Amino acid sequence: MSEPQAIDEILASFHAEAGAVSSRADYERLKGKYVNREHGLVPGLFARLKTLSGAEKAGFGKRANEAKKEIEAALAGLESQVRAAETAARQSQERVDVTLPGRVRPRGALHPLTAVRRQIEGVFVRLGFSIADGPELETDFYNFAALNFPPDHPARDTQDTLLVSAGSPGAPEYLLRTHTSPVQVRALLAHGAPIRVVCPGRVYRKDEVDATHSPVFHQIEGLVVDRGITMGHLKGTIEAFLRGLFGAETRVRFTCSYFPFVEPGAQAAMTCFLCRGAGCRTCKGSGWIEILGAGMVHPNVLRQCGVDPEVYSGFAFGTGVDRLAFLKYGVPDLRLFFENDLRFLEQFG
Ligand code: PHE
Repeated sequence: MSEPQAIDEILASFHAEAGAVSSRADYERLKGKYVNREHGLVPGLFARLKTLSGAEKAGFGKRANEAKKEIEAALAGLESQVRAAETAARQSQERVDVTLPGRVRPRGALHPLTAVRRQIEGVFVRLGFSIADGPELETDFYNFAALNFPPDHPARDTQDTLLVSAGSPGAPEYLLRTHTSPVQVRALLAHGAPIRVVCPGRVYRKDEVDATHSPVFHQIEGLVVDRGITMGHLKGTIEAFLRGLFGAETRVRFTCSYFPFVEPGAQAAMTCFLCRGAGCRTCKGSGWIEILGAGMVHPNVLRQCGVDPEVYSGFAFGTGVDRLAFLKYGVPDLRLFFENDLRFLEQFG
């Protein structure tokens, strides 16, 4: 068999076999047989070039190249046919049966503490407050000193404060923040006055766990500093907050109280949302529920935070998110908020 004939024969047999390709396996087999670099018939043609004389070489090489192009083009066409057939087969198998019943997935819900926190944040955001965040691991400066706590103040007592040893001697001593007030110090130092922020967060105090106590709980603190801020602004804000959370008929009462970082300091109570002031178990018969600490920011705190108390004044307040949720949902035991039993949490969906 002479060489040119071999090229024609290869082309003829290729086209015959290509006509019979009906699957990817057929296609791969055909491709291997004709164009595989090591043993394919087409590369074999080029190997034979070396054995030919100069005159034969040119003609043979040209025809071999044409055959190679023809076969490669035919293979590319076949490949897309095979792919299209595979896609069609897969799509007919994957057809969606719209009569199948849907899969019912259990619905998640926000944790009640998250829900209440967001509700509180919502009230303040509508009043023009921003939300600030701070570390839970604090130093004495932010948690106490900058907030006008004298060095011997009982709140600094290690009975209440959880200290975290920094390990190496001489390293700064850390504590777990006992309230969210250090965030007002950080916010004031970072942004200066005027400022209007609420700071929600987790706080820690050494406490035994029982139905109404937990060593970890949540507070939300508010701070407003501007020119001409008065106790009237504080009262209006607290009223708007508690009415937003417990209903428009809620009334608020302020009594004197003491916190080192405010002067004057106050304790706010609201009319019991269950008995509306008539007296019940929740309000222990008084008709009032003590709900938050508040006051006008102490000039010493403003000074520590680089704000001139002759120009600016401000108010601050802090309240317990767990306690608010506890009251709002009538939960009998604080531990339920932390145990995360789904049977309990599901009821808030
Ligand atoms: N930080 C106080 C507490 O933990 C609450 C508070 C905040 C009181 C702001 C007054 C003003 O009890």
